[in-house]
This record gives sequence, C-alpha cells and structure tokens, in this order.
Amino acid sequence: MPDQPALSPAALQAAARVHAIEPFHVMEVVKAAAELARGGHDVISMSVGEPDFTATGKVADAAVAAIRAGATQYTDALGLGPLRDAIAGHYAATYGLTIPRERIVVTAGASAGLLLACAALVGEGDEILMPDPCYPCNRHFVSAFGGVPVLAPAGPEQRYQLDADDVERLWSEHTRGVMVASPSNPTGTAMTSTQLEQMLAAVRARGGVAIVDEIYQGLSFDAPPDTALRFDQDVVTVNSFSKYFNMTGWRLGWLVVPESLVSTFEKLAQNLFICPSTIAQHAALACFDTESLAIYEARRLEFKRRRDYLVPALRELGFIIPVMPDGAFYVYADISQLKHPAARDSAAFCMAVLRDTAVAIVPGADFGHAAPEKHVRFSYATSLHRIEEAVGRLRKFLTP
Ligand SMILES: Cc1ncc(COP(=O)(O)O)c(C=O)c1O
Repeated sequence: MPDQPALSPAALQAAARVHAIEPFHVMEVVKAAAELARGGHDVISMSVGEPDFTATGKVADAAVAAIRAGATQYTDALGLGPLRDAIAGHYAATYGLTIPRERIVVTAGASAGLLLACAALVGEGDEILMPDPCYPCNRHFVSAFGGVPVLAPAGPEQRYQLDADDVERLWSEHTRGVMVASPSNPTGTAMTSTQLEQMLAAVRARGGVAIVDEIYQGLSFDAPPDTALRFDQDVVTVNSFSKYFNMTGWRLGWLVVPESLVSTFEKLAQNLFICPSTIAQHAALACFDTESLAIYEARRLEFKRRRDYLVPALRELGFIIPVMPDGAFYVYADISQLKHPAARDSAAFCMAVLRDTAVAIVPGADFGHAAPEKHVRFSYATSLHRIEEAVGRLRKFLTP
C-alpha cells in the first residue's frame, strides 16, 4: 500500500442528517438468538417480519425461464408494461377500481417506494405526521430527506392508527402530510374504512399529501381489505411483493401515484434505481395466475389460523391485547400486567424470555416513543406447531 496522507477525523464523519437515523434495536435480540442457535438451542423465532413461506413454484419457474431466455436487461424505470397491467388488473379484480398503467410505478420493494415517495414529496423542514407506534423506517425515510417526523401517540381505542383528530390537532404551518401503514407493523391492526376515509379527508382539507403503505393489505383476516385509492386518487399508495406474495428477498414492490406526479416519480426512479430487478419483475407476473393466487389465499388462511390461536393464548397468559389484530402477522402485546420481574421493561423482558425459553420476540423500542417499555411484538410468521411450542415455553416462564 503506498503511503497516503492522513485524513482528518472530520473527513470521514457521516453527514449530519444520518445522526437522526437509529439502528434497529431488534438486532440485539436477533444477534443473541443467533448465538443461542449456534450453541445448539432450539430457538423459535417470532421476531422477524417476513413470511415463512416462499415464492410459489410458478414464480420460481418464471424467474428461471427469464434468466435462461436472457431477459435480464434493464427495463423501463417505471417497470415492465405487462407487470404494470397485471397490477392494474389486481386493483380492478379486488376493488373494482380502474387504475391506469401509467400511474403504477414498480419499485425495489416497498422500501424503494417509500424512499421515492419521500424524495418526491418531503422538503427540508416539512413535518410528516405518523402514528406511534409505527414502522421504524418511516421516521428515518422522512429525516433522510430533511423532513421532521411528528409522532402521534395512537392507542388501542384508535386501533393504533392515525385518525382525523390527530391530523386536526397536530397540523401546523410546517405540516406537509401524513405517512401511515394499514394494516400496521408492529400492531397488525388496519384502519377501519371510515377511519381511513375521514383521516384522508382531513389531510386533503388542509392541502396535505398522504403516503399510505398497504404492504400488508392482502393479509387481512376479518373483513375484505380496503385501499386508500377508493377514497382519494391523489394519495401515494405503497405496496410490495414481499409479504402477501412471500417474495421478501426478491426486492419488488409498487406505488400508485397521482397522475400529476408520474413524471416526477419517473425521473427520480431513473436516477436513483435505473429500474427494479428485471428477473424479479418477470417472475412476479406469475403471482397473478390462478394457481399462484390459490396458494396465496391458502397461506392467508394459515396466517389467520395462527392468529386465532395465538391471540387468545397470549391473553390467557396475561398479555394485554386490547384490540384484535386483523391483518399482517404481528401481535403487539402489553406486558405491564405480567407478574414476572423482568416485565417492568420490554427490552429486559425479551432478553429474559430468549435466555430462559429460546423464544425470540422483540421489544417496543424500535417502533416509537409511546410506552415502548410496556410492549413487545410477536411475529407469527412461523408454523402453528412452533407457535404452540413457544406458548408452552412462555407459560412455564411466566408461572411462578
Ligand atoms: C410497514 C412496512 N413497510 C415496508 C416494509 C418494507 O418492505 P419491502 O420488503 O417491500 O421493502 C416493511 C417490512 O417489514 C414493513 O413492515
């Protein structure tokens, strides 16, 4: 190595806005769980936010066929036309909505969709309202573009979701809009259609923008899923092949954007990504054939079966779950009534549960500031048999 002049410590400092971005606290649990597993323990992971199912055979075959056919060049920045048509067809079939292909932007997962939405809409100093608790990355997407996330504590009485009253109460001259996810991570609760409609109307009345993350929409258990697009064509909705279609690592999602913003999103997508994965796009076309759709529906019912077992079982153990989570694969449980000494703080509780039972669950800390020490998140993206085993271990742990 040739001698290089020494860089001053300041030269390698991260940009100031990066300081607002926190690492995931859940990684502490994930690391400790991995260590236990390496030591030969039978760890039951209820910590991760990804389905235990994978892409269907048809989807995998379509990916291989695309590779073999050499269909691997860049695509249009907004995505393959046939895939955008298939997504439009999905809105027509599920909601009776006509969404023109032009408004559909295929992205590298919901993550890239959220990034593009914030790049397009969040300016320096803009306040974005979001419920607390919520998906941790949302605050970081906003602050990465110089915006200010404003967290609205949202309890079970409002299904842990932002509502029209929050919009009215917290709107300031700096507010640009809202960012919500329905169903939500970490609570698994969706907004009711009325709550969604009223919240969107409150934002619209103030001339704001709404970014509505519908990534868990397909995983709805108690009522047909709804979409913000039924109420307002000027919202940006975010969706993904990661959760309902079980394709987390394929990195594919989509946005539906207002017509007037298509060219803005197009130039951002061109510059930031060139295009989403071509192979994943060819594969995703097979998500919409009848055989794949039947498999996804069976898997949705399997998630519901797990939810129907887990929530009453946790309530019986003393966890407080005031509102039935009706979507995604999460249960956000209040531990404050548990008698166990570690239950005074959710981070300590999760570590104690992991150490003594080898069940990995995550503390509330990542999801916001509204009593995170009282809450833990269970993910039921693991088989019913393993969930039953986890509940048995928790029962022993909590029994004095
Ligand atoms: C609410 C929410 N939005 C977005 C994402 C990111 O998903 P993707 O894999 O599509 O980037 C996640 C992942 O857990 C999520 O929970």
